[in-house]
Amino acid sequence: MASCSECSFCIMVTSLFMCISFASAQPARAFFVFGDSLVDSGNNDFLATTARADAPPYGIDFPTHRPTGRFSNGLNIPDIISEQLGLEPTLPYLNPLLIGEKLLVGANFASAGIGILNDTGFQFLHIIHIYKQLKLFQHYQQRLSAHIGAEGAQKHVNQALILITLGGNDFVNNYYLVPYSARSRQFSLPDYVNYIISEYRLILKRLYDLGARRVLVTGTGPMGCVPAELALRSGNGECDVELQRAASLFNPQLVEMVRGLNQEIGAHVFIAVNAYEMHMDFVNNPRAFGFVTSKIACCGQGPYNGVGLCTPISNLCPNRDLYAFWDPFHPSEKANRIIVQQMMTGSVQYMHPMNLSTIMAIDSRV
Ligand SMILES: *[C@@H]1O[C@H](CO)[C@@H](O)[C@H](O)[C@H]1NC(C)=O
Ligand SMILES: *[C@@H]1O[C@H](CO)[C@@H](O)[C@H](O)[C@H]1NC(C)=O
Repeated sequence: MASCSECSFCIMVTSLFMCISFASAQPARAFFVFGDSLVDSGNNDFLATTARADAPPYGIDFPTHRPTGRFSNGLNIPDIISEQLGLEPTLPYLNPLLIGEKLLVGANFASAGIGILNDTGFQFLHIIHIYKQLKLFQHYQQRLSAHIGAEGAQKHVNQALILITLGGNDFVNNYYLVPYSARSRQFSLPDYVNYIISEYRLILKRLYDLGARRVLVTGTGPMGCVPAELALRSGNGECDVELQRAASLFNPQLVEMVRGLNQEIGAHVFIAVNAYEMHMDFVNNPRAFGFVTSKIACCGQGPYNGVGLCTPISNLCPNRDLYAFWDPFHPSEKANRIIVQQMMTGSVQYMHPMNLSTIMAIDSRV
């Protein structure tokens, strides 16, 4: 992928031999990440917001055993995708280390608390809403152009893999945030779902206009089954019916929207990731996946360890691999690994129209 301009630059400053070795060492495929706390790798640590994972025991199983801003005991979904594809992990866009050659690896623009809608997550104050993430993606491309030239930069972005994870907060931190929320007075649930799907579509089109050509698009998990909602809304430990209804309306429409968008473009640019089904497998049958429970969070307090946040004084389970949920809202690294495995090799029920290993095989041929 080294462009001609790089090569001639290379000849000028060093030797032909150096140039050949440089040109043959193609930069790996870039990876860009957009979305919410499920995929934020630490941007919010650089912001004045309450939505952050910057205190122990977050990161307890990370290689450094320190909090990194990831809402996980260890690695999160983007980290594991990078690992599976043999790529370096992408840095948060706000991390000052993201300069020079590191720009070629890609960037993570995700910010905990955000949603499809601009008003989702307002209570967290300074977070990077999705249109701001897209704006930063433009800035990134200008910086990459300054580094490798406009043509090379565009090619690098066109050939990149992209992940976008949105939607959960538009329910949990907006429509269902408080009883009689503004959005729930404005819309019935089915109308609200139609509305946020149409807004998600605009976001994906914008991403396409910015050069995205391979985009994994995830819907919401089973929001009614997370420990926070079991503690808040469920008397008997069953998944909350209303939030499950929201997820079961939203996710199939997302698949349809993605299908329509691909048809309009005439290519399989967008891949619908059925995060709902991927989670439901271990929520319904935790033991089959080596978990002792899918109801109780590893870190938290109160019923199901689902009340409040995971903090240094919370209950903490000794073995995180035995818990599907790390904190009241977010899967453990072990659960993230199961999810990414389905992204890699899952059937069309999980990955529509195709899984990531198929995508990688197709894209390596062009
Ligand atoms: C959200 O904000 C962006 C940029 O500020 C704007 O373009 C978009 O129309 C807004 N969306 C809605 C639904 O208001
Ligand atoms: C997904 O990946 C596996 C192998 O990794 C492949 O056999 C299978 O056909 C793929 N499924 C789809 C729907 O692409």
